Amino acid sequence: MDIKITQTNNPKAKPNEDDNLLFGTIFTDHMFIMDYDIDKGWHDARVIPYQPLSLDPATMVFHYGQEMFEGLKAYKTKDGRTLLFRPNKNAQRTNKTNKRLCIPEIEEEVFIDAIKTVIKQDEDWIPTKPGTSLYVRPFIIATDPFLGVRPSRTYKFMIILSPVGAYYPEGLNPVKIWVEDEYVRAVRGGLGEAKAGANYVASLKSQVEAKKEGYSQVLWLDGIERKYIEEVGAMNIFFKIGGKVITPALVGSILPGVTRDSVLTLCKEWNIPVEERKISIKEIYQEYLNGTLEEVFGTGTAAVISPVGELRWGDHIMNINNGEIGQLSHKLYDVITGIQLGEIEDKYNWTNEVK
Ligand code: COI
Repeated sequence: MDIKITQTNNPKAKPNEDDNLLFGTIFTDHMFIMDYDIDKGWHDARVIPYQPLSLDPATMVFHYGQEMFEGLKAYKTKDGRTLLFRPNKNAQRTNKTNKRLCIPEIEEEVFIDAIKTVIKQDEDWIPTKPGTSLYVRPFIIATDPFLGVRPSRTYKFMIILSPVGAYYPEGLNPVKIWVEDEYVRAVRGGLGEAKAGANYVASLKSQVEAKKEGYSQVLWLDGIERKYIEEVGAMNIFFKIGGKVITPALVGSILPGVTRDSVLTLCKEWNIPVEERKISIKEIYQEYLNGTLEEVFGTGTAAVISPVGELRWGDHIMNINNGEIGQLSHKLYDVITGIQLGEIEDKYNWTNEVK
């Protein structure tokens, strides 16, 4: 693909090695942008200085939310290479999301080439301190200036880059999670398995209420019976019960996470029995009472592995592993970040070098 590059004349000051890189607050010097219209398809791919957009107030994305996004990370290895982690999975998921949201698809190669080209421009922005990386945020918005409800005929695909530390202020320390049994995030047949901004709007109200109670995230139950565990919104969820690892099956309302898939692959390699199935909150509580709920952890690109130290379901407070990080959570974090950083053998060909 031909990508035109315009470099900035005003490079910004980069964060210092010791700065706390609060997730999603700092952006690099350049961005990628490409347009779509019905006649030309995706066209005019370019890397430009990071800048605000100018859009007509009638632009469809502002009114009906036809928008998708992705998230992946780039890492700097000790020998100076830049590695992406499974970008093909994000490209494939983009197209599944696009189909659901009536957004035109983007070829996998074009998607990955765009990411690599913009990262190449801002390679110096990749932080190297342990626990940091360059978060890559591809996204697409509907841009027709039109107030009728139908799919837009024009779009913009953009990629912005942000040097980040841990997603949660807790870092690898266990987070406290609120089990939501009033509001729901998604239902089967809805948008739950798509990476649509709309899913995250749906989560805000209960996240705000959970925060007031001192919980950092919300664990969603299924939208119909409000019994079965789905996901956390910014993460998929795993339970280690009596030596087995259990995660909710992808039933249509759960995001198919790249880290989720990586964890399942590693557990199978390590001969840990894994089950992808329906699991109710009642079952989790019963296992907790039995003393067999050994570990709970979330998985996500931004969060990587996030141990859960407490689950609150109504009046029941489940204190997990004494609020400490579990052995398996720790091992998964070390191995996944080790592969991402090129320090552990990449048996599955998960990393993809930016050259
Ligand atoms: C990610 O992990 O990349 C996500 O998309 C979650 C996001 C809401 C921070």
